[in-house]
Amino acid sequence: MIEPTYPKSFASDNHAGVHPAILDAMTAANPGDARAYGDDTWTADFGRHVKDVFGPRAEGFPVLNGAGANMVGLALMLGRYDAVICPDTAHIAGHETGAAERLLGTKLITIPTPDGKLRPDDLAGPRSTIGNHHDPQPRAVSISQVTELGTCYSPDEIAALADAAHASGMRLHVDGARLANAAAHLGCSLAAITTEVGVDVFSFGGTKNGALAAEAVVVLDPTLADAVPYLRRQSLQLASKMRFISAQLSALLTDDLWHRNASHANAMAMRLADGLASIPQIALAYPVESNAVFAVVPPAVATALLERFLFHHTDEAAGIVRWMTAFDTTPAHVDDFLDAIRKAVS
Ligand SMILES: Cc1ncc(COP(=O)(O)O)c(C=O)c1O
Repeated sequence: MIEPTYPKSFASDNHAGVHPAILDAMTAANPGDARAYGDDTWTADFGRHVKDVFGPRAEGFPVLNGAGANMVGLALMLGRYDAVICPDTAHIAGHETGAAERLLGTKLITIPTPDGKLRPDDLAGPRSTIGNHHDPQPRAVSISQVTELGTCYSPDEIAALADAAHASGMRLHVDGARLANAAAHLGCSLAAITTEVGVDVFSFGGTKNGALAAEAVVVLDPTLADAVPYLRRQSLQLASKMRFISAQLSALLTDDLWHRNASHANAMAMRLADGLASIPQIALAYPVESNAVFAVVPPAVATALLERFLFHHTDEAAGIVRWMTAFDTTPAHVDDFLDAIRKAVS
């Protein structure tokens, strides 16, 4: 067995491996042949899980990654001269290499926020351009749940945004790469932050929660669902051996594995934040509402920690780092990291 060369990474939940139950689900799907491109029993089974969890109108479509899920989800909503309103921290705006602009030909109208969260009032400016043929037409609002700053929208906050978007003829898209972490933090069901609050299309992330290249586009507006197979293929997100993706997503939705993994990761982030509370040299940059801790760290402390641990600065000038936990982060990993932080500050 090859041992990792560094202690547990705090850089990203993407650094974690695959949860054993998900590996088991892939192994169970392995024997024999199955039809390709989603015409298999595992994908049909996943479709039933989606309806059980998100309601009878929900249609789930497995895809390969989170950025691709965003492209397919947004493509469903946009015409040739349409724009998307999103926070300036949105993954689609800052970390997808301009895919939305290049592949969808859309304009992203980015809004500065204090905490990664859009509010209904933020739609007022862009909304004022509706009907002006000199402006791209805002047709979708895209939010991330969990946000890129580790914060969560409450169900009421999403409902208010959905109402505001719909009142102006826009649809609401949710980048749910960490939807499970949000539901676990809020103590609610996955439907309570999607189906029940007016979301039209969202991605359901598996990869950051213990899966391997497994995400889904979930469509709650039935008028949009027919286009997904075509847009998924055109966006290069159609997996030929889809059974292995579907089996993973079904495993996450079975016996609340999604919740166990996410709530454990969240609890490890909270353990880290609780430990930081007694280290006066380090302050939290944002509330801890998921599996991410954003902290303001003196440069010499960050440098010392980086000699042993993996993590990223999100704003080096301001000394802000992001420390992330995963389904397999243990209390001992966190305590070891806290010990190192205490040594580095002293
Ligand atoms: C909020 C959010 N959305 C989307 C993505 C994209 O996921 P992927 O890298 O699987 O395309 C990420 C990845 O870090 C993310 O953090």
